[in-house]
Formats: sequence, structure tokens, C-alpha cells
Amino acid sequence: VDIHGAGRKNSRGINLNVRSQWEPFERALRVQLEHRWQAAPLVDGQVLAGEVHEVRSPQDLDRVVGTVWFAGAELVDRAMARLAAAWPRWNATPMERRAAIFGRLADLLEEHRTELVALCILEAGKTIQDSLDEVREAVDFCRYYAQQARLTLKRTELRGPTGERNELFYEGRGLFVCISPWNFPLAIYLGQIVAALVAGNCVLAKPAEQTSLIAARALELLFAAGLPKEAIAFLPGDGPALGAACCADPHLAGVCFTGSTETARLINRRLAWRDGPLVTLIAETGGQNVMIVDSTALPEQVVKDALHSAFTSAGQRCSALRVLYLQNEIAGPVIELLRGAMAELRVGLPQRRDTDVGPLIDTQARQALLEHVDLLKGEERLLAEAGLAPALNGHFLAPLAFEIGGIGELRKEHFGPILHVVRYAAEDLEQVVAAINASGYGLTLGVHSRNEATARRIEALTRVGNLYVNRNQIGAVVGVQPFGGCGLSGTGPKAGGPNYLLRFVHERSTAINT
Ligand code: NAD
Ligand code: ALA
Repeated sequence: VDIHGAGRKNSRGINLNVRSQWEPFERALRVQLEHRWQAAPLVDGQVLAGEVHEVRSPQDLDRVVGTVWFAGAELVDRAMARLAAAWPRWNATPMERRAAIFGRLADLLEEHRTELVALCILEAGKTIQDSLDEVREAVDFCRYYAQQARLTLKRTELRGPTGERNELFYEGRGLFVCISPWNFPLAIYLGQIVAALVAGNCVLAKPAEQTSLIAARALELLFAAGLPKEAIAFLPGDGPALGAACCADPHLAGVCFTGSTETARLINRRLAWRDGPLVTLIAETGGQNVMIVDSTALPEQVVKDALHSAFTSAGQRCSALRVLYLQNEIAGPVIELLRGAMAELRVGLPQRRDTDVGPLIDTQARQALLEHVDLLKGEERLLAEAGLAPALNGHFLAPLAFEIGGIGELRKEHFGPILHVVRYAAEDLEQVVAAINASGYGLTLGVHSRNEATARRIEALTRVGNLYVNRNQIGAVVGVQPFGGCGLSGTGPKAGGPNYLLRFVHERSTAINT
């Protein structure tokens, strides 16, 4: 079996710099940006009541994007019981029929791309390019997992003693709770759900509080693609309250979680202490990601890739670069270029084509980052700072770069546009690597060196999930760079990789003496 699915193509984007592509897209986007959306709890296709919240855009606090009704924890019981009743039928649905639904979903996402981009801009504060990439990744997850299911989750015959027929086959585990973050409100949200469903599980979807509208719209498209309404429940709302109820539910078979390491640890503890069957936990969490630059690197390329890795999505990516290690011999010129390039960054409204960095997600996120910024500014460590567009009315923070002594000084993940720079001596490379490993995280690592032996040595000495050499270190491509880390960064398996679906299934074998 070709588990890599040769012949599959990832979705295509729009080139914003080509007039014939940009102008019609921009016209359609302007219309979509005027909409308001709604999201409410949904069980068995039935809309349920909840606590009303008005959703305001992180880029403009006067702009109301829509209304969401948050589910109370009491709805978890009801949802799980309904999903449990529906599961045998969904699990028995032929794989081909299940997979076809997600192929159709991919087509529908492409058809509704402009609306989804508008939602990503307004509800999540993503720039246009970032939003387009988000939709593309969601499309790719749908097609990739549908193809993987067809390729790998087939009943196969295994060779055994003569006279026996031995078979290996796969079923859904039962009910999965999918808990997703706001920073990939479509791609990760749908990636989790599609993987769980195509593998034969029913799903309770719990999107991040901040991005319930995008999640609800994606669900409508999932139903339009043909998913039976009984196979999924949708409960937007408070993470701790809904999470606690889900983890305690006797029907639970698995949790697929993406978010902070602290929340993953809490869920893990809850699952460990519950009675009844053991529950699978898939957790993709945070990072403390480094780029190591040696003296053979090209300074212009380093700065371009470091900026892209640190400040795309306003640094709100688990994969984002946090600590740039520069060998002494190259540090001066790189820092000079970095200062110039950061001064050129455009921070502002995400629906403008020329914006490089949009807003942070909310007040709490900005406040947490400002505490760190004040501390480092107080210690006079500031190296460079970008400027802010005037008269903004959202959660903006202009990118900053600080010089620090080493990754060990960072006690937690600072989830925003803050880059830390460290100088190191060539003979201390192994100590640099030891410090990275000692952080306990293992998500992305960048290396800039024209000496491949250096990159290979670093590869051998570190335990990160995704290593990128002489390029940026974000934006892993589905089916090409399977994504996910180890240690404090997650449990694996890698999203968008050939082993992901296996974690969602119960493997069975039958031996028949003929
Ligand atoms: P978060 O942990 O606060 O929230 C993530 C999700 O968990 C949300 O849906 C939230 O409602 C829910 N939640 C919160 N408390 C819960 C609880 N007690 N029980 C169950 N669910 C609970 O994280 P966030 O701020 O939304 O996202 C940012 C974090 O996500 C960062 O740490 C980032 O590195 C990480 N992340 C990791 C990946 C990856 O693939 N490794 C991808 C994206 C984001
Ligand atoms: N998969 C996302 C990236 O690589 C998180 O940036």
C-alpha cells in the first residue's frame, strides 16, 4: 500500500499580487465582510438554548461579528447519550461512503472560501493571506484523511498457519471529544473532527470560545456535504466547564485536544482518575521554538525566515519562532538587518492586503504579553520594535525583539509577536542544543547553515517534531510535513501524516480455521 497517497494534490491558493486574481476576490470579500453570523449548541441536528454572547472582532472592538449561544455543562450528558445511540450506525457505514462526505466537504470549503476568509479575518483577526492559508489547510486535511482512510483502514488478510484465515481490520473507538484552539479555528477544528469521523467515531465538537462562529459555519457545510446529523454534536462554550463534564462522561472513548500544555495536562489528569474504560488522549500543545544560525548562513535569508516564522499570525502559532540563536560572528549583521526589517513591518487591520501583522486574539492574551514586555524593557533588553498604524481599536501589539541570555530564561510560552535573540560561541553549540532539549518542548526547530553536516548533527542531538533547514519554520504542509511534537509539545501522532488516523481506531483481528 502506498500510504503516502501519491497523486494527491493539495489545494491551490490565490496570488494576491496578481491583479486578475486579487480584484475579483477583493470585491467578493468586501461583501462577505458585512455579514453577521450565529452559533448555537446542536445535538442530533436540534438547535438548543444557551447563554447569549455578542462576538466582537479583535481588530475592531466596535464591530459585532455575530452572536453565539454558549452551551451549559448539563448539555454534555444529553449530547453524549445521543451520540452513543448513533455510533453503531455511523461505525457500520461503509468506509467509501464516509470518505466521500469529506471529499464533498473539501469542495464546499473551496466554494465558500471567501466567506470563510471573511470569518477568519473578523472573528480570529487573521490577515488575508493567513486566512487563505487556513482555508487551504482545512481543505487539504479533508482530502488527505479521506484518502488515508481509503488506503490504510482497509480489512487486510495476514499470512498465518495453513488452514487459517487471519484478518486485520479497523473500527471507530466510539465517542471522541474534539477540543480545538482559536488560532487555527477552521483547519485544526476540522482536521480533528474529520479524522475522528472518517475513522468511524461519533464526535462532540468543542471549539475555542473565541471562534465559535467559524466553527458553526464549518459544521453547516459538513451537514451540506452529507454528514448525518446524529454523528456529531456541537457545544460551543466555556472550556473548563464543558471539558470537565466531557472527561467524566462514561461514554467517552477518546479526546483529541489541541491547545496549551497546561490544559492538556489537566485533561490527562482527569482522564487518569476516572472509572471505567481507559480513554485515548491525543494532545498537540505548545512550543518554545528555536532557530540556530551559524556563521555560514546568509544573513538576508535568515532575517526573512526569522521574521516570517516569528511574526506571521502575530506570533500566535504553536510552531512560531521564539528564540533566535545567532553565532557571534554573524550576530551583528543579522541584528542590524533585523532592526531595519522590523521597522518596515506593517501592523494593522487584517483585511488590508498590505498588512503583515494583525491583532492578538483578546485582552487577556495582550495583557499576558505586556507583562513580559514590561519586564524585558525594564531590564533594557530591547533590540528592535515595529511601529503601529494610528487609530486602531483592537488588541494590537507591535512585534518586538529582545536580547536574552538563553532559552532557559523563558519560563513559559509567550504566545505572540515577541522574538528573543541569543548570541552563542561556535564551541558552545552542544550547550545550545542541551538548553533546547532541557526546555522540555519539542515542536519546531530551524537551522540556518550552509554546512549540511551541522544541520545533521543538530538533527541527531535534538528531539523536535519538525526540523526546517535554511527556510522558515511555520506552515507545515498536509501530507508533506506531518506536524506535531513530543514532550511538553504533545503526544503525537502527527497531524496531516500517514499514522494519524490509526490513533482514532480500534484495531481488531479475526482468525478463522477453515
Ligand atoms: P487553551 O488550552 O486555553 O484552549 C484550547 C481549547 O481547550 C479551547 O477550546 C478551550 O476552550 C479548551 N479548554 C480550556 N480549558 C479546558 C479544560 N479545563 N478542559 C477541557 N478543555 C479546555 O489554548 P488556546 O489559548 O486556545 O490556544 C493556544 C495554545 O494552543 C498555545 O499553547 C499553542 O501553542 C497551542 N497550539 C498547539 C498546536 C499544535 O499543533 N501543537 C496548534 C495550535 C495551538
Ligand atoms: N501546522 C501549523 C504550522 O506549521 C501549526 O505552522
